[in-house]
Amino acid sequence: MSSETKEKSGVSRRDFLGLASMGAAVLSSFTLLAGIFRMSKANVRYEESTRFKIGMPDNFPVGTVKKLDDKGVFIFANDDGLHAISSICTHLGCIVAISETGFQCPCHGSKYNENGKVIGGPAPRNLAWLEISQEVDGSLVVDTVREVPVGTKFKINV
Ligand code: FES
Repeated sequence: MSSETKEKSGVSRRDFLGLASMGAAVLSSFTLLAGIFRMSKANVRYEESTRFKIGMPDNFPVGTVKKLDDKGVFIFANDDGLHAISSICTHLGCIVAISETGFQCPCHGSKYNENGKVIGGPAPRNLAWLEISQEVDGSLVVDTVREVPVGTKFKINV
């Protein structure tokens, strides 16, 4: 019967099963190699850290405001401590500037008061107040994903 089958289709059942198992073995080998290649690459995200050092406390004399555009944050130093307010407009992400009323966005005109509360324009949310902390070496650190309540001041440990 197998010779009849071979004569009709040109491939015997045995040949077909042999080819199928060979194909499965090749496919399995490729899958294994792909897995090994994937494992050899570290599973790391190359995003910029949300925590960054802003310097030592004496870089922030009382009464000063520092604008760190590359980090998207303002650092205010007052008698009662430091506070950080995000300078990234909550509308579409432009960098806001200090204005007479607080902050103003140059892109679409959103206005915020001195605490970052929206007082005009299309901005949907207030500017965030960000956590400031101090490292063991005394340097100050801001974390742009850790918001703190409005009015939170960081007291410098000298
Ligand atoms: S990005 Fe600031 S108002 Fe549109």
